[in-house]
Amino acid sequence: MADPIGIEIRNLYKIFGPQAAQLMDAVRNGMTKAELNERHHHVLGLNDINISMPAGQIQVIMGLSGSGKSTLIRHINRLIDPTAGEVLVGGQNVVTMSPDALRDFRRHQTAMVFQKFALLPNRTVLENTCYGLEVQGIPQAKRIASAMHWLERVGLKGFEKKYPNQLSGGMQQRVGLARALANDAPILLMDEAFSALDPLIRVDMQTILLDLQKEIRKTIVFITHDLDEALRLGDSIAILRDGEIIQQGSSQDIVLRPADAYIESFVREVNRGRVIRVDAAMEATTGPLPEVTVDGDCTLEDAGRLMVQSGTTRLAVRDAATGRPAGTLSMERILAAITQRSAGHA
Ligand SMILES: Nc1ncnc2c1ncn2[C@@H]1O[C@H](COP(=O)(O)OP(=O)(O)O)[C@@H](O)[C@H]1O
Ligand SMILES: [Mg+2]
Repeated sequence: MADPIGIEIRNLYKIFGPQAAQLMDAVRNGMTKAELNERHHHVLGLNDINISMPAGQIQVIMGLSGSGKSTLIRHINRLIDPTAGEVLVGGQNVVTMSPDALRDFRRHQTAMVFQKFALLPNRTVLENTCYGLEVQGIPQAKRIASAMHWLERVGLKGFEKKYPNQLSGGMQQRVGLARALANDAPILLMDEAFSALDPLIRVDMQTILLDLQKEIRKTIVFITHDLDEALRLGDSIAILRDGEIIQQGSSQDIVLRPADAYIESFVREVNRGRVIRVDAAMEATTGPLPEVTVDGDCTLEDAGRLMVQSGTTRLAVRDAATGRPAGTLSMERILAAITQRSAGHA
């Protein structure tokens, strides 16, 4: 399997319109999206985006419709050329690649999963899954072996000979995922890949992706407009509004310290017990250690469950990495953390 590679986005700007380059100075000097639109009839798609996406992790880009998510992800494989800025993938600047190098890069380093599945209707599930490998010129036996492997991993063994229109939406998206994985590219680009699915199927797909990721360790860029999905999937989350990043951090950073009122309004609906970790809610130990121990990186919900199961209201907390005692967690602290409204923003 290919080694994971990181993605570094630096000072990236995208202005849509014929005079984009000439308008860069105005935007750098602070012209807003609304002003640019009113005065110059150009659209500010991305405004000074800086993100470091570590190799082998899931980077979520979240934002409402029109915030610039698709524009951003399409810069990573240069389906869109930036007006200014750099996109470094494994240290190589995608923005300055020659057409040949770019074609090679797209084919071997990246795979995409689309919202609308984009399966070929007159090809079977197996043929659809093989498609990328066929384009790469991989021999047939190897293509089929790889496609069969990934179809099995997404739970579609036995469906190889079906056609897309014989499958439900959730199953079609599993084919989309198997097709992307069969490519064996280190980067997986997923633009609202689960957004068209029914809620329960969507949660199933998230589970499949998280389970697979333990094994495949790809650099996954996952776009969503759904905060629950973002919090569940993202090792790191960047929140976009009007083409700008307004907050970056872990799920817990965003829930505990929403950067502004806009993010806070999203965060208000979140199940905090599933996001906040034990080590963010624990207190220093005083007196003897409780008998039952929990790891500091568990969620408060898991800690609460452990309390119920063991008939106690206080747990010892152990540092998950070192195994050393880190503090204690009481039921009161859990309740305080999950019922708290954030006290304004940073
Ligand atoms: N080709 C284009 N020409 C002009 N404006 C565009 C183009 N593509 C996207 N935009 C605008 O850029 C902004 C971001 O769009 P998009 O990246 O598609 O948002 P999202 O994926 O978050 O819904 C929107 O204001 C959209 O209208
Ligand atoms: Mg989009």
